[in-house]
Amino acid sequence: MSNDGVDLEKRRFLTLATAGVGAVGAGFIAVPFLGSWNPSEKAKAGGAPVEFNLDKVEVGQMVKVKWRGKPVFVVRRDEKTLSALAKKSEGDELKDAHSEVKTQQPEYVDPINRSRKPEIAVIEGICTHLGCVPQHKKETEVDWGGGFFCPCHGSKFDLAGRVHSGSPASTNLIVPPYHYLADNRILIGEDGGEA
Ligand code: FES
Repeated sequence: MSNDGVDLEKRRFLTLATAGVGAVGAGFIAVPFLGSWNPSEKAKAGGAPVEFNLDKVEVGQMVKVKWRGKPVFVVRRDEKTLSALAKKSEGDELKDAHSEVKTQQPEYVDPINRSRKPEIAVIEGICTHLGCVPQHKKETEVDWGGGFFCPCHGSKFDLAGRVHSGSPASTNLIVPPYHYLADNRILIGEDGGEA
């Protein structure tokens, strides 16, 4: 065999060996990567939409619903509360009275009452300052119109989840995606079609 012949054999061997190692390496890489594409059953359950019957909520009352491990506040508001929310939008009592920070609510909610239907508010109960769970305060319990009070550092939000000026939180509470399945039933966690 000539030197050229030896070199060719060597080169062929090295090429095959390198390709083999590459294939094994790719196999090791592919498994964890595929694993991360498939969410576990637990993760799916954690993110699944939650159905809620609005008959459980009386006027002025707040009911907590758990979605994705977070509390979601469902509040039934009356005409008086809704006109107070509209009036509040005119002054400088609120930081974002017209819901201009688009990340805080889906585009289909009204910018003032921040809901699909005026009387029912659906709001994530996580303070936008540092993540505490605010407390529901009725209009009659406080002198600032009622809404949600965060005891951690004193942020106040009205009954549409809009943050009061002077609060350490800078943005309104988040409105999650939701839609109506019927007049008295909502599905929290999915945008759905029209209201
Ligand atoms: S976490 Fe709510 S005010 Fe700080």
